[in-house]
Amino acid sequence: MATPELTWKTDRIFARPPTSADAQVVFENYASDPDVAKYMIWRPHRDVAETLEFLARCERVWMDGSAFPWSLWLRDTAEFVGLLEIRVRGHAVDLGYALSRRWWRHGLMSEALASVVQWALAQSDIYRVWATCDVENLASARVLERAGMEREGILRAWLVHPNISETPRDCFCYSIVKAGS
Ligand SMILES: CC(C)(COP(=O)(O)OP(=O)(O)OC[C@H]1O[C@@H](n2cnc3c(N)ncnc32)[C@H](O)[C@@H]1OP(=O)(O)O)[C@@H](O)C(=O)NCCC(=O)NCCS
Repeated sequence: MATPELTWKTDRIFARPPTSADAQVVFENYASDPDVAKYMIWRPHRDVAETLEFLARCERVWMDGSAFPWSLWLRDTAEFVGLLEIRVRGHAVDLGYALSRRWWRHGLMSEALASVVQWALAQSDIYRVWATCDVENLASARVLERAGMEREGILRAWLVHPNISETPRDCFCYSIVKAGS
């Protein structure tokens, strides 16, 4: 199985695995914010203990290879900006991501996704990179399009986004595949 780098850089971002030492900054700037969580599958964290649990899970999944989450930091100022995770399943990689609200609309996730998509499609055994987003999450749909992905269709009743409703919601499915596939 293709295993990504622990750390990588783009022009503005430094990415590394999150650790428990990041709990306070992740809690305050990301995990406790209902606007960040709105279209995610988790509820906003109520205290830093929940964020610590989440970060322990991040360390575990790196160890067992079931997912590869990175925390994203500005190279210039070392500020925390968000998280991006990929999962490798056979010949396919899927993505999940979110930024701290104050870093929305700066092109940062587009920059991060470009790097991850490029890495994935450069692996000999990866042919497909894909992601889903709630049909109302226009920012996420746009960021996937900017990463070169095409909308394949709608996965009906695909995911529960508990901050919106307990009923599974329709999601757009986006992908990019290796040229010639
Ligand atoms: C989705 C998210 C990561 C986008 O990241 P971002 O760095 O702000 O996006 P970018 O600045 O790269 O912008 C990409 C495009 O989306 C557009 N966009 C950004 N926010 C938008 C919004 N709220 N509504 C509509 N379009 C938006 C930008 O204008 C840009 O479009 P353009 O190419 O036409 O100029 C960010 O909004 C976020 O973290 N949201 C909360 C968590 C979330 O929903 N994660 C995804 C779950 S599937």
